Amino acid sequence: MVQKVPPRAATPPESEPPKRTVALEDLAGVGPTTADKLREAGYTDLMEIAVASPGDIAEAAEIGTAIAMKIIAEARRAADVGSFELGTALLERRKRLGRISTNAKSLDELLGGGVETQAITEFAGEFGTGKTQLAHQIAVNIQLPPDQGGLNGEAVYIDTESTFRPERIVDMAKAAGLDPAEALARIHIARAFNSNHQMLLVGKAQELARERPIRLVVVDSLTSHFRSEYAGRGELAPRQQLLNKHLHELLRFADTYNAAIVVTNQVSSRPDILFGDPTRPIGGNIVAHAATYRLYLRKSKPPKRIARLIDSPNLPEGEAVFSLTTEGIRE
Ligand code: GTP
Ligand code: MG
Repeated sequence: MVQKVPPRAATPPESEPPKRTVALEDLAGVGPTTADKLREAGYTDLMEIAVASPGDIAEAAEIGTAIAMKIIAEARRAADVGSFELGTALLERRKRLGRISTNAKSLDELLGGGVETQAITEFAGEFGTGKTQLAHQIAVNIQLPPDQGGLNGEAVYIDTESTFRPERIVDMAKAAGLDPAEALARIHIARAFNSNHQMLLVGKAQELARERPIRLVVVDSLTSHFRSEYAGRGELAPRQQLLNKHLHELLRFADTYNAAIVVTNQVSSRPDILFGDPTRPIGGNIVAHAATYRLYLRKSKPPKRIARLIDSPNLPEGEAVFSLTTEGIRE
């Protein structure tokens, strides 16, 4: 069972994350070997351990559950997890949550009313399941006024596979009643050449967000560069660590700018040490921890696709059917 990161405390805009002054080795019960094993499994930060389940820690560090529980308790103390935030403050923050329609009512309902801001939504699935089409559609819909399913916002689109197609935006914008040229001018596209560049672009997005109303960051695909650059088994640790860092920087953007983060993740039919069994994409514990909403997409009778919501913290599991059309995503 994958444990979710609890709601994060409100961070003032532009603030630096709290500096970690306690090393993993400083926790009682964590020797150098255990610390190394934890880091290898992607637990580089006290917070990651503080919010993990004893089972996950026990497995990662090859230790007993009792010791894992003790380590988690230590990490919680050190990371100051469990200090209180007023319910009213949390409610205020939740009230600011925005939602973006996907154009498919059932899919929006599955997501609790659309793609949420202050969160990462992951579209996982095999090739051709509509991940990129959904990303395009949401980049158009973010521009609409709230009563039409948008947030009057602009999008940053980090394209790692060169599959961004302005022609698709034109089709979708026309169908949404937007001026196609204006719609394209509100999508800031960057081609990421490698994983390092991809991570750098989040920083660039932050700079841009100071001038433009960026309410959406798309990363299509989140994992392709990481997967191809860190292909060997021995490279799992750096891959997990960097991916973890990337996701947390994206989450910080989401919090700071009340923005939605949409990432895609191709799940191959070949089992992968990081991404695991395609029908149960829980192997990628790093992505699973950070993504608030994970949707697993699969093909149905063309042009239909089926989306399944996987282990959401606050929504029931369920499925929604949608269609891929020339005008974009449809019910
Ligand atoms: P990978 O990136 O390869 O993993 O796939 P993906 O999940 O991103 O798939 P993508 O979103 O690119 O979906 C491709 C599918 O969208 C095609 O097979 C078509 O069914 C549909 N599609 C794409 N463009 C059009 C279009 O212009 N018109 C119509 N009717 N369908 C389209
Ligand atoms: Mg794609």
